[in-house]
Amino acid sequence: PSEKDFMGKSLFSYQGSWYYPNTVQAILNFQKHFRPRDTDIILASFPKSGTTWLKALAFAVVHRNKYAAYTLDSHPLLSNNPHNLVRFLEIDLYDKNQLPDLEELPLPRLFATHMPFQTLNETLRDSPCKVVYVCRNIKDVLVSRWHFRSKVVSKELYSNNSLEDMFDEFIKGAYLFGPFQDQVLSYWKASLVNVNPVLFMTYEEMIEKPEAQVMRLADFLGYSFTEEEKQSGMVEKILELCSLSNLSNLVANKTGTSTCGIHHHAFFRKGGVGGWKDYLTHDMAKKLDEIVENKLQGSGLKFE
Ligand code: A3P
Repeated sequence: PSEKDFMGKSLFSYQGSWYYPNTVQAILNFQKHFRPRDTDIILASFPKSGTTWLKALAFAVVHRNKYAAYTLDSHPLLSNNPHNLVRFLEIDLYDKNQLPDLEELPLPRLFATHMPFQTLNETLRDSPCKVVYVCRNIKDVLVSRWHFRSKVVSKELYSNNSLEDMFDEFIKGAYLFGPFQDQVLSYWKASLVNVNPVLFMTYEEMIEKPEAQVMRLADFLGYSFTEEEKQSGMVEKILELCSLSNLSNLVANKTGTSTCGIHHHAFFRKGGVGGWKDYLTHDMAKKLDEIVENKLQGSGLKFE
């Protein structure tokens, strides 16, 4: 089935999610050609749920020994956008005419995706590689996406970027990488069974207890912090390096375009939890909560 998006571009449904035709092609390329390695780490998310933050944190955690000599002062994250350090499978690596050469990447290889678990899983099935999923409440995601859209789409391309239109898309379900709630449920279910190890994280918990969450991430990835590292303030250093204020103020993130073609600065705004209250009406919030609650009913997952 196909639909039109807010710019009149065609969206196609593939394995339960909506994409532009070139993304479907990229996913088919990925599914056919990607060869997972046992040590691979895949960071998955619905757009605007904290992908950039998770990329930065996971990169800093797994490569911390490699960059220990730099004492974090000349870390790659200080001179490069997280999206260039951890690239998206379907909207960056596999969307080109030529297949990417991933064999020479430093280990562990880190990748990112906005695909739902069922689409990823076909390709990862026989591999013990790890998946980390970050999700965020739908209302902050919607507002974040609305701001993002106005930054990345040229004025000529969108005539239709009202918040109400975006709200209608979310309710209807046919929007790029949507429906949100279906994707969240796919990773939640996967995190409960042991097909691939899946760590389910939330942006809200990361904001509330960053130290605990980054240690949880490190434990899951097999890169636990030693007591010595904890006492030397390594966890705090990594959190500071990857903080919104630090990353968004770096020249490297204020200028330039990521390998997936988006201005670096578009990935940083206000952050935090509950900013939606300044934008959505009570009625809109209620309807959004309802579609998520209906989908998650009986799953054991609840958004506050
Ligand atoms: P807001 O638009 O609510 O400010 P994604 O990375 O998935 O595209 O999500 C972008 C959202 O995450 C934006 O939210 C952005 O400000 C926020 N964000 C980006 N980097 C962050 C960081 N290092 N820490 C916390 N939030 C961050």
